[in-house]
Amino acid sequence: MQEKIQKLKSDMLVNLKAASSESAIKDVEVKYLGRQGLFNDIMKSLKDLSDDDKRIVGKLANETKKELEAAAEKRYSELEGEKLDAIADEEWIDVTVPGKKPAVGHRHLISKFIDDLEMIFAKMGFSVADGPEVELEHYNFNQLNIPDDHPARDMQDTFWLKDLKKHVLRTQTSPVQIRHMETHEPPIRIIAMGKTFRKDSDATHSPMFHQIEGLMVDENISMANLKAVMTQMLQQIFEDTSIKTRFRVSYFPFVEPGMEVDCTCPICHGDGKLDTGVPCRLCKQCGWLEIAGAGMVHPQVLENVGYDPKKYTGFAFGIGIDRMVMIKYRVNHLRLFFENDLRFINQF
Ligand code: PHE
Repeated sequence: MQEKIQKLKSDMLVNLKAASSESAIKDVEVKYLGRQGLFNDIMKSLKDLSDDDKRIVGKLANETKKELEAAAEKRYSELEGEKLDAIADEEWIDVTVPGKKPAVGHRHLISKFIDDLEMIFAKMGFSVADGPEVELEHYNFNQLNIPDDHPARDMQDTFWLKDLKKHVLRTQTSPVQIRHMETHEPPIRIIAMGKTFRKDSDATHSPMFHQIEGLMVDENISMANLKAVMTQMLQQIFEDTSIKTRFRVSYFPFVEPGMEVDCTCPICHGDGKLDTGVPCRLCKQCGWLEIAGAGMVHPQVLENVGYDPKKYTGFAFGIGIDRMVMIKYRVNHLRLFFENDLRFINQF
């Protein structure tokens, strides 16, 4: 009888070991220790033994049963451990691998340049004004003394909004002059910068470009003030105190007199050629670069906003930012600004 018990024990242990799922263990438990199980058969046959044997064999049988129950329990927890090991094998991560740095954005060259200009003008007492990019025809043209038949209104240049007959994508930052003067009294000293739009596209023109507008209105403002402000700004932004300016007569309906502002070429310093004698390509050997439109605010414009042109005078200017950035950082195609290629943007 003892041998039968030993045999049953070792059989069950072998089976348990082979059981590789919870249900397989359960089957082994039922087969050996269940109510109809093999172990119970032995227990039942105990009654045929003598009292002494019954005691000895009964004790062994009970102990063995307990042992086997514990072995089954142990197999359950082993299996749990194996499962966790498998998960750990499959899903392990190496926490010592250096992390991947997320690509962090970078300030755009044009935004940076605008900030730099803002600082320069702030030091000269200018504050920042703002206006909408979708602008009323009234502000973009009429109030600026731009008559209905002015070429700037031509379909070639202006983006008109289809369903809003009186709206355009602003073609210049000059309407901010009007908006500001309508709501403020002199003295005025503001800059306004941002996106402007014209139907134009080549290596140096894009349908969206950036301008910075300047406006100063007070008593006794003259061209001398305009010249001083433009020269200061150019010397500071190009970090070159040898830069000179010149003013050429030009026409903008909202200024009188109107002019183009040129500065000496920051590469050849106005010589038209480099120290080595090589012709300067940036200014095409002329020594000057066109930087801005400017002029004294037209008396009609002052009247349009309710100012007395006999009392107040002022100057205004509009600078093409993209072109200045191209000059300062020697960027040879406007497209580079808008492609958002980090290889380009990260250089600055
Ligand atoms: N708004 C003009 C342009 O876009 C530039 C300008 C501004 C000229 C202010 C004179 C005074 O061409």
